[in-house]
Amino acid sequence: MRNGIYITILLLLLSCSTDNEVANSTDDDYTEIPEQTNTLLNFEVPANFPDLTYPITQNPPTEKGFELGKRLFYDGRLASDGVVSCGFCHIQEFSFTHHTHITSHGVDGKIGKRNAQPLQNLAFLTDFTWDGAVSFLDAQPIIPLTAEDEMNESISNVISKLQADDRYPGMFKDAFGSDDITTERLFKALSQFMVMMVAGNSKYDKWQRAEAVSFTPDEEAGRLLFESKCASCHAGPLQTDQSFRNNGLAIDPSFNDMGRERVTGLPEDRRKFRVPSLRNIDTTFPYMHDGRLPTLKAVLDFYTDGIVDSPTLDDQFRKEDGSLGLDISESEKLQLIAFLKTLTDNDFINDRRFAEF
Ligand code: HEC
Ligand code: HEC
Repeated sequence: MRNGIYITILLLLLSCSTDNEVANSTDDDYTEIPEQTNTLLNFEVPANFPDLTYPITQNPPTEKGFELGKRLFYDGRLASDGVVSCGFCHIQEFSFTHHTHITSHGVDGKIGKRNAQPLQNLAFLTDFTWDGAVSFLDAQPIIPLTAEDEMNESISNVISKLQADDRYPGMFKDAFGSDDITTERLFKALSQFMVMMVAGNSKYDKWQRAEAVSFTPDEEAGRLLFESKCASCHAGPLQTDQSFRNNGLAIDPSFNDMGRERVTGLPEDRRKFRVPSLRNIDTTFPYMHDGRLPTLKAVLDFYTDGIVDSPTLDDQFRKEDGSLGLDISESEKLQLIAFLKTLTDNDFINDRRFAEF
């Protein structure tokens, strides 16, 4: 507990646990966890955060499950080339994004279509990826594992490689009670690692929880601008209302990414993307689903001068005189950037629990 500002939901959620040890339970969800050999991790929800979306009681993060998930996350052997691990594209120092890569690079240097997203606060999201193609965290890794331009491997090969390893069978046993290596357990372990990635200790979070921090005049001015110009979409403690919207990026003919329409098949969803959280935004450059904008200044210049019309453009970018964009002066842009930097949670970025070494 950090200064009492976190509420621990562990005991509330895990009614079958005693003294932080995982006990046997008649509930099917727990029968795989051996008694007394594995310890539940303390999953803490920052007091200013929304409700959990991840069904944590069905896959409660444990010490051994987390350890296994972490090893899997950083293991290049999950990819066909033995190199491209999850952590290859999701680098902690940059809030688990692929630093400097506009769109991500996978096996054999194959270039993907999209900018790697940060991995943080995943237990609070309802849909995953830029277009919401996945709505359950446990199912997410199947995409990078099998995508040709990411890890380009089959799940059955991954499982065979893990079975042949000298440590994995024992680690699965410690985490799940037997050394069976199944797809479900593979994904559950990865989720246990990722669910623990909670970034909720930025200056802005502390301010929201009325802790002893104060904004500089520029940060405070930026906060007020953010509330009036951005928070309708970048809403709430995670700075996203989790809706899909078209914010007016020009079509990039090399990708011609249809966004949400790819998932729903609906023309009204054309080129809509999930409103991204802005937590740690100062560390996750470049920006937008295809990483086309290199800096926060470039993002704000885009919002004032770069918005392109299309039938699905969000109405908030249409001004009364018929022109497009948000009205923000150059000095206001600097204030907004000062505010956006208060969203960085350095504790999270430097948290050794998530580090490869
Ligand atoms: C080649 C680079 C690459 C690799 C390897 C990779 N990812 Fe990703 N990851 C991405 C990209 C790009 C996206 C955005 C995908 C999209 O929108 O279609 C993403 C999105 C995600 C998301 C969704 C985040 C959100 O906010 O919705 C999760 C979770 C995730 N990756 C986990 C993993 C895991 C686990 C692995 C390993 C099994 C992995 N990734 C391997 C590039 C990569
Ligand atoms: C109408 C909704 C809406 C409003 C208003 C809005 N945004 Fe966005 N924003 C989005 C969407 C949607 C995206 C993702 C677009 C994409 O990648 O295709 C986005 C992307 C971004 C990104 C890039 C995030 C990343 O991870 O790459 C930043 C930074 C950003 N917005 C900041 C702002 C700021 C600052 C404001 C106010 C000046 C603002 N936005 C106003 C919807 C909005």
